[in-house]
Amino acid sequence: MNQDILYAGVNDHALDLFEGQFAVPGGMAYNSYVILDEQTAVMDSVDHRFADAWLNRVRSALGGRPADYLIVQHMEPDHSGSIAAFMQAYPQAVVVASAKAFPMMQAFFGEDYAARRRIVRGGDTLRLGRRTLTFLDAPMVHWPEVILTHAAPDGVLFSADAFGKFGALDVQEPWTDEARRYYFGIVAKYGVQVQALLRRAEALPIRTICPLHGPVLRGEEAGSALRLYRLWSAYEPESEGVVIACASIYGHTMDAAQLLARRLRECGAAEVTLLDLARCDMAQAVAEAFRCRTIVLASSTYNGDMFPCMKAYLHQLTERGLRGRTIGLMENGAWAPMAAKAMRAMLENARDLAFAGPTVKLACALSDAGRAQIDALAGALTAPQAAE
Ligand code: FEO
Repeated sequence: MNQDILYAGVNDHALDLFEGQFAVPGGMAYNSYVILDEQTAVMDSVDHRFADAWLNRVRSALGGRPADYLIVQHMEPDHSGSIAAFMQAYPQAVVVASAKAFPMMQAFFGEDYAARRRIVRGGDTLRLGRRTLTFLDAPMVHWPEVILTHAAPDGVLFSADAFGKFGALDVQEPWTDEARRYYFGIVAKYGVQVQALLRRAEALPIRTICPLHGPVLRGEEAGSALRLYRLWSAYEPESEGVVIACASIYGHTMDAAQLLARRLRECGAAEVTLLDLARCDMAQAVAEAFRCRTIVLASSTYNGDMFPCMKAYLHQLTERGLRGRTIGLMENGAWAPMAAKAMRAMLENARDLAFAGPTVKLACALSDAGRAQIDALAGALTAPQAAE
């Protein structure tokens, strides 16, 4: 970081599922930072399994100095899990957090540090010496108690979960794909709140972003991340491409989806991604739907409904506020095809969707009639502004 703001976080390679549901083959980082000034501040703790390692890092970063403040930006256990250990190790330290954080401390640890706390809200400042911290309210990004912290004159934004990504810091990979999967997995429902936070944050000079997960973002990396967050929080697509999400039982619906992918490419689609919902990472499939302008939903009929993995997918998309997309539908059914009707019904309350082209209706396997419908759908999805 720099000589006054030191990294003190940890990498977790033992974790299989982050938040109990997101695969993290590259592990996870729980970030923490130590600010050295006339007074010292520690930014957030880490998962309780890493309390000892983290306290060693904090001790080393402090270089023998006491810790004056523990600033708690977020109470989810991946960050709050070592607060109690810290407060025991540094009995003179004051914990700084929003008013909503302290009842959570009481609930998690049986202690709300009434004699050792400072409650802050948006706009409050804490002067450490040469450096002043300004707190920003960030309710529902993505818990209600969240605050962010801006350090001046450094231009550093400590951003809590915002701008975080999956993956430990000792795994080299681009920021965007895993940050997108993280955002649409965890934060996407709260786009309005993220937009409000961005307006407040961007009124301050930001040269560096220090999130609680993923790498520190500097200069153009920070600018690019801010631009993507504006897009993502507005539910705007990044790509004019098409994602085909397929739920197939015996492979015939997948045959049709693959044919559609070929036809779309032949028709000049900007980009085509085909997902096998039964086998791909669901969080990745969700992120792809938000990344692309057009989504084709292809499902076998099952129990008078769509295939279960498609139902789970649409639940995740609508729960996260999918809107403003062009949708194509394909269904398969041996005797009473119901998938298209069921998929449409699940999207009924999604805002600003445009259903394009004919619904492709397959009976068991691809036929000449099915191929003709697929050609028509590909044409409709690649025609300028073709939507019913
Ligand atoms: Fe990284 Fe919302 O916890």
